[in-house]
Amino acid sequence: MNFNLSEEHKMIRDAARDFAQAELLPGVIERDNKQQFPDELVKKMGDLGFMGIMVDPKYGGSGLDTISYVLIMEELSKIDASASVIVSVNNSLVCYGLEAYGSEEQKQKYLTKLATGEYVGAFCLSEPEAGSDATSQKTTAIDKGDHYLINGTKNWITSGGRADVYLVIAQTDRDKGSHGINAFIIEKGTPGFDIGPKEDKLGIRGSDTHTLQFNDVKVPKENRIGVNGSGFRFAMKTLSGGRIGIAAQALGIAQGAYELAIKYSKQRKAFGTEICNHQAIAFKLADMYTEIEAARMLVMKAAADKDAGENYDKSSAMAKLYASKVAMEQTIEAVQIHGGNGFVKEYHVERLMRDAKITQIYEGTSEIQKIVISRSILRD
Ligand code: CAA
Repeated sequence: MNFNLSEEHKMIRDAARDFAQAELLPGVIERDNKQQFPDELVKKMGDLGFMGIMVDPKYGGSGLDTISYVLIMEELSKIDASASVIVSVNNSLVCYGLEAYGSEEQKQKYLTKLATGEYVGAFCLSEPEAGSDATSQKTTAIDKGDHYLINGTKNWITSGGRADVYLVIAQTDRDKGSHGINAFIIEKGTPGFDIGPKEDKLGIRGSDTHTLQFNDVKVPKENRIGVNGSGFRFAMKTLSGGRIGIAAQALGIAQGAYELAIKYSKQRKAFGTEICNHQAIAFKLADMYTEIEAARMLVMKAAADKDAGENYDKSSAMAKLYASKVAMEQTIEAVQIHGGNGFVKEYHVERLMRDAKITQIYEGTSEIQKIVISRSILRD
């Protein structure tokens, strides 16, 4: 067992770190304040290969492994979790979904543009009455021969207003339950497809989250992904990989907060010495470091499972469950270490604390991860 990164992985991590420092950091507070989507930065991340990290180069991707994906996600998330969720959804939900389950025509038409950042992708599963209970899809996709007719509402869709391509899950045959669900590729601008108002969020405010409406949207049959009835399995498999991305995002948020707390505690003086010399602060730092390292092990294990071709449903759920808990708890500690300054935007930790919360909610809440883990260990 080797816990060290290869030289290639270190180079990839450093490239992402340099990009995050040089490009994401300067405007991150303003984008958070104004809820501003980082359009230009997405293009730059596309140029660097961050929008299709694991995609085969023949479809325009970088052809890297999941460990590389995790390293890039951690570095981006240390600085800007709004930018990193755009990267995560595009990579592990949209690009992976198309590469693993799409037809050759779908890959040529959509994946090549998504992997280079020319297009941004969105993944549309959640609904007003089907968030955690994803099998209860109310959106319908009625088979009309050469096309499907889609009707329904999707909620909390990341990149919802900015995406070019949407992977939409819908129920075709309710009697068949989860086996009657399909996944479709729907392009922005398709008649009947409307984008609702942008959500005003607690965190990841630079990402673009919307409700979407589908009113008699005609989708050609060739835009269905996979065989009839495979949409729920498609969503679950795709989300297992997505959870590795969100776990890495949580890890990055925690690591970013930890690094800011270390730096601050070595500069700030109280009672005649730097505050890191007080055991009350030093012990907090020790706990932060230990918890974050433990989260990193779980995230890397899930990524290594995926790269090795092992089943990663359980390890990705464990990584997300634990890393998101660490992100929430340790960003609160980072704010505490910063004292009054921690409550002020220019010190960045309050934003990291707000951003951490969503990692316990999206791509399956912590409670859903426990369902996935407990079912798996009881079955094994
Ligand atoms: N791989 C393959 N098949 C799977 C699977 C997996 N990981 N998980 C389930 N299935 C199959 C099951 O085997 C079952 O098939 P059979 O009927 O043939 O046995 C079928 O799918 C139904 O599965 P369950 O009976 O387990 O379904 P359930 O109703 O009990 O729900 C659940 C399971 C795990 C709770 C699931 O509903 C779930 O993951 N919910 C959370 C949804 C979620 O993560 N939403 C996030 C939204 S996307 C997002 O946040 C993106 C963003 O923008 C950031």
